[in-house]
Amino acid sequence: MATAPELLDRGPAIQIRPMSESDISDVIAIERASYQFPWSEGIFRDCLRVGYVCRVVTVSERIIGYGVMSVGAGEAHILNLCIHESYRCNGVGKKLLTFLLDRGTASGMTEAFLEVRPSNTSAIRLYLSLGFEQVGMRRGYYQAVGGREDAAVLKLALRPRRASRQRLE
Ligand SMILES: CC(C)(COP(=O)(O)OP(=O)(O)OC[C@H]1O[C@@H](n2cnc3c(N)ncnc32)[C@H](O)[C@@H]1OP(=O)(O)O)[C@@H](O)C(=O)NCCC(=O)NCCS
Repeated sequence: MATAPELLDRGPAIQIRPMSESDISDVIAIERASYQFPWSEGIFRDCLRVGYVCRVVTVSERIIGYGVMSVGAGEAHILNLCIHESYRCNGVGKKLLTFLLDRGTASGMTEAFLEVRPSNTSAIRLYLSLGFEQVGMRRGYYQAVGGREDAAVLKLALRPRRASRQRLE
């Protein structure tokens, strides 16, 4: 049986498409396996209902990751970004985040923000590699075992790039 990296290496390439209600059961399985304090199905439903940018990444139609972003008042907010554990460290998270940022730019947003746990070093490295910079800290923002954990607030200035001209669903 092919491993996750092998699947990513051979075609068909990974695809990014809009999330639909029927995807939520697959999404929630990845969410629960990835976070100690996962979003509920209701939160994903609400994100779809209010029209946030909700996208899934698929390989051979199987969902291997997803991202959720809100846009408004010139700001894009990355609210969730998650890749199935078996497919991590293969560039998929970077590809999805780049897609979302390009989508935000194409929608006229000039800045992107996100919150991240300071303990989440892999995510922080991804964000820094794309040019995000820390601009603040929200005290006690996250639930944590035995209390709360701070959130680092990261910001990226969005500038139109060639990629933002591609077709972005
Ligand atoms: C954070 C997450 C989305 C990254 O997705 P990914 O597909 O593994 O990331 P990529 O393979 O695209 O990595 C891109 C860059 O991020 C950094 N990175 C990602 N995972 C890393 C790890 N385990 N250790 C060190 N650096 C890492 C590297 O800089 C990497 O660039 P490089 O491969 O050129 O060195 C993924 O780890 C995940 O889903 N984690 C659980 C959910 C989560 O914490 N989401 C973020 C909430 S704020």
